[in-house]
Amino acid sequence: MIFKSSTTAVPDTPLVPRHVAIIMDGNGRWATKRLLPRVAGHVKGVEAVRTVVEACVERGIEYLTLFAFSSENWRRPQEEVSLLMRLFVTALEREVSKMHANNIRLKVVGDLSRFDPKLQEMIAGAMRKTANNTRLTVTVCANYGGRWDIMQATGKMVAANPGATDFTEEMLAPHLAMAYAPEPDLFIRTGGEERISNFLLWQLAYSELYFTDTFWPDFDSQSLDAAIASYQSRERRFGRTGEQVAKKS
Ligand code: IPE
Ligand code: IPE
Ligand code: MG
Repeated sequence: MIFKSSTTAVPDTPLVPRHVAIIMDGNGRWATKRLLPRVAGHVKGVEAVRTVVEACVERGIEYLTLFAFSSENWRRPQEEVSLLMRLFVTALEREVSKMHANNIRLKVVGDLSRFDPKLQEMIAGAMRKTANNTRLTVTVCANYGGRWDIMQATGKMVAANPGATDFTEEMLAPHLAMAYAPEPDLFIRTGGEERISNFLLWQLAYSELYFTDTFWPDFDSQSLDAAIASYQSRERRFGRTGEQVAKKS
């Protein structure tokens, strides 16, 4: 399916966001506050993922995108990085069958070539298994960076158009890692920081942004509802005037 781009057309503005993208931040501080090692926050963070996935299914959200590991997170201490990798493996082992039983499609996007080959195989297997599920698409962004995405898409676009010197957004967009999804309606960042941290740079062009101080391990279905309520109170103008928007609805 081809989705409307927010810059070349005016997309629909669904009452319930069709696509929610989340930067799950604050695991480390959640743990430190409790005098626990940072890893305890990551473990608890996986539980929050389960809760939010279920809440999205109940609310009829079609796409949930989760930033799990950025292209810059390799800069962390080696032990934390390997621990996050191990957690990723166990989460896949434990959750994929359940997701499949619940008709959930799993996608993992990012530069996966840097992961252990075994993990890469697990990811490919999980994506194959759930490929035809239709209730909710959960995308995990792993070793993902918005700049990486734009660069890899640019490379593919150039290769697909040999000799071309003029390029358009429509030529680039199909090569982005998440071309299978509409642009996010609602972006959420937990943990109190108000920045994008190289998440979906292209796709967030007209997303509604929501920041909360809640640490990711404490984020639950009520927190999601608060974010959705905030989204529902916004007027999405996409460059037009408020009067134009009012006339259309
Ligand atoms: C988000 O929590 C999880 C990852 C980046 C993997 P953090 O680990 O960034 O937690 P804080 O920001 O240090 O509290
Ligand atoms: C962003 O969080 C990445 C993920 C949640 C995976 P970070 O904690 O890495 O972001 P910065 O470093 O505070 O910007
Ligand atoms: Mg952080």
